[in-house]
This record gives sequence, structure tokens and C-alpha cells, in this order.
Amino acid sequence: MKCKFEQQLTDADHKSLFGWAERVFPAEGAKYSWVEPTNRIVTRDSGIAIAHLGFSRFNLEINSKSVSTIGVGGVVVRPEYQGKKIPYTMFSKLHSSDFLSPQSRFSSLFCPLRLAPYYAKHGYDIFNGSVRFLQNNGHVEAKEFVFMLRGIRELSGDIIIHSKPW
Ligand SMILES: CC(C)(COP(=O)(O)OP(=O)(O)OC[C@H]1O[C@@H](n2cnc3c(N)ncnc32)[C@H](O)[C@@H]1OP(=O)(O)O)[C@@H](O)C(=O)NCCC(=O)NCCS
Repeated sequence: MKCKFEQQLTDADHKSLFGWAERVFPAEGAKYSWVEPTNRIVTRDSGIAIAHLGFSRFNLEINSKSVSTIGVGGVVVRPEYQGKKIPYTMFSKLHSSDFLSPQSRFSSLFCPLRLAPYYAKHGYDIFNGSVRFLQNNGHVEAKEFVFMLRGIRELSGDIIIHSKPW
């Protein structure tokens, strides 16, 4: 299996990664509109895409200050490859990459509360303040999700995100 940085996915990659069930991602997310990532880490087995982690750079507003973060989303492993810790390789690759430079090691993600212990194993902590992000009808807060942070300390206040979530 090979795991590397990629940008574009083919239709076959999409089908393999996201087409294996009617609803692959948590049902709570269906009512929100999400960002399509600009960058990805893809794991392939004999060329077939079997796991994916998407990410892009975003700015958050907190206490009227703009903070840059790498937003991680679209974490998925095909069912027959799950339970083999493949996401550990993908997260480690991202966390040790130049995308997270010494100046800005801050990465973040949204997930349902039930997945928080899983992402905690990858070094993410739950942010306790409110987080609002942009949807078509303005900024909303998603009570169904927690926002998790890695690589930043003492982030307190309320977060406003002037884009769709990731
Ligand atoms: C979440 C997901 C990426 C984990 O992939 P994986 O290859 O099974 O991950 P790992 O092998 O690293 O870890 C498996 C662990 O995750 C836990 N886990 C997997 N899915 C879980 C879920 N939906 N809720 C809670 N825990 C979960 C397993 O219990 C296991 O726990 P352990 O480490 O204590 O044994 C995979 O289940 C998946 O693709 N799910 C569908 C897409 C999705 O929901 N993505 C997350 C969006 S926020």
C-alpha cells in the first residue's frame, strides 16, 4: 500500500472512496454544505484508492484576530480496510509535513461527539467555545458536531469561520 499527497481524484477514485455505501459520512452532516478539499492524502492498494484524508488552509476569526489552520475533512477508509490503523499513517504524514510548518502547527476538524475519542488518539482536543461557520443563509452553529484542535494552545473565545466547514 502507498500513501501520498495528491490533489485531484478521478471518478473511479471517488467511487471507490465515497461510493461504497449510500451514506459514507455521518448522517448529521447531511444538512450542511461542506468545503471540497484542495489537498489530499490518498492511500492506494495496487493503484486503487482505499483511504483518504482531505485538507485545505483556512482562516478562523477568534477574538477579532485571524488565525490560520489546516482544516482536515473527508477522512474515510473503505470498509474492507478499516481497523488496520491506516488513518494513523495519513495523519502522521500530514502532521509531519511542511503544510504544518513550525510557525503554524495548528490543524482542526469537525466530527460528531462519538468520534471525538478516535480523533483524540490522533492528537486532537475538543474546543469548548462556540463555533459558527458560513452556510447559504449566514453563519450557523452546528450543535451536532464538535470542533477539534491540534497544535495550538490557549485558544479561548468564540470562533467565526467565514467559509463553509471542512
Ligand atoms: C472513521 C474511520 C475513518 C476509521 O477508520 P479505521 O481504518 O477503522 O481507523 P483505525 O484502524 O485507525 O481505528 C479504528 C478505531 O476507530 C474506531 N471507530 C471507527 N469508526 C468509528 C465510529 N464511527 N465511531 C467511533 N469509533 C469508531 C474503532 O472502534 C477503532 O477503535 P480502536 O482504535 O480502539 O480499536 C472509518 O470508520 C470510516 O471510514 N468511517 C466512515 C467515514 C467517517 O465516518 N469518517 C469520519 C468523518 S468525521
